[in-house]
Amino acid sequence: METIHSIAQTREALAAVKARGDTVALVPTMGNLHEGHLSLIRHAHTLADYVVASIFVNPLQFGPNEDLDSYPRTLAEDTDKLQAEKTDLLFAPSAKEMYPAGTSSQTEVKVPGLSAILCGQSRPTHFAGVATVVCKLLNIVSPDVSVFGLKDFQQLIIIRTMAEDLLLPGEIVGCPIVRESTGLAMSSRNNYLDEKESNIAPMLNQTIRAAKSALESGNQDHAQIENEATVALEKAGFVPDYVSIRNARSLESASPGDSDLVILAAAYLGKTRLIDNLQVNLSANR
Ligand code: PAF
Repeated sequence: METIHSIAQTREALAAVKARGDTVALVPTMGNLHEGHLSLIRHAHTLADYVVASIFVNPLQFGPNEDLDSYPRTLAEDTDKLQAEKTDLLFAPSAKEMYPAGTSSQTEVKVPGLSAILCGQSRPTHFAGVATVVCKLLNIVSPDVSVFGLKDFQQLIIIRTMAEDLLLPGEIVGCPIVRESTGLAMSSRNNYLDEKESNIAPMLNQTIRAAKSALESGNQDHAQIENEATVALEKAGFVPDYVSIRNARSLESASPGDSDLVILAAAYLGKTRLIDNLQVNLSANR
């Protein structure tokens, strides 16, 4: 595996790959790779001949009081893991390479509406930061396909919308959430949890699983299901940000007749903000 830090050299390397007729898949990450990321790499291998991973802790997607400085940076370990998965190229730029004039004067991509709801309410600048960096990565790599985890469900819908609206290269593919045996969705931020919090964290998934069962057993009172889930999280020791039942395609509040749903939740455990979601398809129940 080749590791490249410069945009120009990445483009040059990929021009040669494309000239020989190989298709290219991109897996954008912020590093500190776990099984969830590695499952994206494995899926990317099934979709294209040549797999590019990117590692970039994107300052533009962190709010002023968020964890940019403490976000785990583990490039040496990540490189070994990517090599073991037969990744072809690692693009690991510096902030100066991605934002040569700094972040404050960077042109931003904003996906209106979708970026202001759910996680966007408590992280108002987050999705513009994500959309901007992913737009740049897609323009650098020009992949045939890009692979993202479904754990960041809202992020995936926003990236898909941006790619469609701006005619960005390649298909956008979502991959299933990888979980610990406890049901906790894998995340680099799980590393922040102390022992007590680690024992409580799986309750986030258990709570939305209970909400899914309620929907599947025919309960159409979404507000009641959301409230019960919120109370359950509070009792477990979380400070819930939201639990919300949405239309899985539009992310609008789901109406009782909708059958393609997603339950999304975000909650703080101490200083750590955890997110999770579960898709629910009720078409067989109707
Ligand atoms: O999901 C992530 O790790 C990041 O938001 C992404 C897509 C790599 C953009 O920085």
